[in-house]
Amino acid sequence: MIGDSRITKVLYGGDYNPEQWPEEIWEEDMRLLALAGIDIVTLNVFSWALLQPDENTYCFEKLDKILDMVTRNGMKVCMATSTAAHPAWMARRHPDVLRTEFNGMRRKFGGRHNSCSNSPTYQHYSAMLARRLAERYKDCSSIVAWHVNNEYGGGCWCENCEKAFRVWLREKYHTLEELNQAWDTAFWGHTFYDWEEIVVPNLLSEHFEENRTTFQGISLDYKRFQSESMQKNFESEAEAIRSVIPNAKITTNLMGFYKHLDYQKWAASMDFISWDNYPANEDPYSKMAMNHDLMRGLKGGLPFVLMEQTPSVTNWLSYNALKRPGVMRLWSYQAIAHGADAVMFFQMRRSIGACEKYHGAVIDHAGHENTRVFREIQELGKELKKLGSATLGAVTCAKIAILADWDNWWAVEYSAGPSRDLNYMQEVFLYYRALCEQNYSVDIIGMEDSLSSYKMVLAPLLYMTKGSFDEKIRAYVKKGGIFLTTFFSGFVDEHDLVVTGGYPGKLRDILGIWVEESDALPGGVYNRFTYQGTSYQAGLLCDIVHLEGAEALTEYEEDFYAGYPAITRNAFGTGEAYYIGTQTEEGFLKKFLKECLSRVGVWPVLEVSENIEVTERRKDGKSLWFVLNHGDEEKTFSLPCRRRELLTGQIFEKGEEVSISKKGVLILEE
Ligand code: GLA
Ligand code: ZN
Repeated sequence: MIGDSRITKVLYGGDYNPEQWPEEIWEEDMRLLALAGIDIVTLNVFSWALLQPDENTYCFEKLDKILDMVTRNGMKVCMATSTAAHPAWMARRHPDVLRTEFNGMRRKFGGRHNSCSNSPTYQHYSAMLARRLAERYKDCSSIVAWHVNNEYGGGCWCENCEKAFRVWLREKYHTLEELNQAWDTAFWGHTFYDWEEIVVPNLLSEHFEENRTTFQGISLDYKRFQSESMQKNFESEAEAIRSVIPNAKITTNLMGFYKHLDYQKWAASMDFISWDNYPANEDPYSKMAMNHDLMRGLKGGLPFVLMEQTPSVTNWLSYNALKRPGVMRLWSYQAIAHGADAVMFFQMRRSIGACEKYHGAVIDHAGHENTRVFREIQELGKELKKLGSATLGAVTCAKIAILADWDNWWAVEYSAGPSRDLNYMQEVFLYYRALCEQNYSVDIIGMEDSLSSYKMVLAPLLYMTKGSFDEKIRAYVKKGGIFLTTFFSGFVDEHDLVVTGGYPGKLRDILGIWVEESDALPGGVYNRFTYQGTSYQAGLLCDIVHLEGAEALTEYEEDFYAGYPAITRNAFGTGEAYYIGTQTEEGFLKKFLKECLSRVGVWPVLEVSENIEVTERRKDGKSLWFVLNHGDEEKTFSLPCRRRELLTGQIFEKGEEVSISKKGVLILEE
């Protein structure tokens, strides 16, 4: 589906569930989907009960018919494996398949995403179903991708998980001495003498709230274990498919910044990345952009698939506002602007029952094409046809990277002290937003990724310096890189054990500072600092910093630490390392980062007015600019070079004033 030579345009489609409808309606679906320009459908997402009515019987006849119909109608297929909701008979006969919740409550049959990852029943039957599907459809030429499960997520704290957790811990620590040390169990006399004494961390044991635990070590390990358990489920289905179709392209739909699964680890098991974008209408556009960039970064910048978005409305918010006219189109192009090579919806036809009957779809309950939403979908369908392969495979060449790391995310938010308001992704977003809203290209990377192509690397709230990551940064800065980190960084190692000898631990020499104390400020309370004549808020945490080679760029102005550095810069090797010792304002960050970047020759793709996003993708040595007007007014900007607009073919000359309508999109080719 990605990098497949049979695909010559941005694929356009989404989840299609004809098995939930009488067959008489299917031909009308085909007419409407063709009219909408739909050329790919994801089939079979929630059909396990239909495909397997009992332990030994598999019935593929209906799916055969559906697949045959969509293939005859010229559509490509993303074939799902149906394993995100187990059948009722399975729960009744094999209760080990059911999950136990964080509070210890054992679930009965119901809902979806309801299987325990460590259930032998689930492991057996899910891989079996994937294999049977692969065997049945291996020769079907319309299948371009395999979609395992659906939005893996949630967690389980049952006895199977407990047993598997002990096995996982033995593999990780080998001895109980090691484990006791890593978790610092001498604290409160929690020393373990037998592996069987270890129980899962939840409300029945170490936790008193989801994010509040008495032992971060065990809670962190349980997060890692859960993420790996689900990844193994994915892998076993993927292997089952690959054992039949060696070159199958296999994915699962991710959810952007989803806290419970370490997608940077998952990416290695996936052939391509796909994800579901469901922002709230009021989200800033930079938030969606950050999610797209995270998804693109998971596989080193390769294009990804927008597997789901709603054409119009969701059903699961408190207030499900409609996407305003033009917004579905705008957000579809935003995905493409950040690296998507396919644009897909949930779903093709609105169901009549259960909890998603008021969720948007290509075909509404009215059942015909005369709706606003259908017309907008149809328009976009025509445009994507016209766009053809122009954007396929194009890459983003960012000179700036922001680090986002799941272990840090978990550890920061499990931390008891210094502040309960610490929110890892919010802090990452603050920095991302300051760059994105000025139209800098940014990659979101993980700790394993190479830093060598970047002029600047930002690692907000780098609380945990795992393994030899400090050495990677040290080498990067020595060679001329610009590194920036913030308060509460370098405090702990991968076990959440404090690096003693002074904060920020292993980052101390790179930053040239010593942080003696951190002052937590409640919401609405601020210290202040002044930078280039403007006064800014310093909130959340104020680190009290001593210089050990770095220079202070500004100081706190209030309280007993007035006069202590708030922001520092350290020349290190041929590079520089910045420390922002407090949470600051967007306005400051925009200005400050721009200044840092201009000194190393990194510029925005294009400087335009507020609410106009511009990104660049490159293909065959040529630059493509995506100009997206997220605002509600028409705007103009002046073009620094000659470009051709791909959707209209219009040529714009150098220096020409180009206008872009509200919610408008321009794709400008060099
Ligand atoms: C998710 C799921 C879909 C559907 C949509 C509704 O993304 O993957 O099955 O439930 O949400 O928004
Ligand atoms: Zn379980």
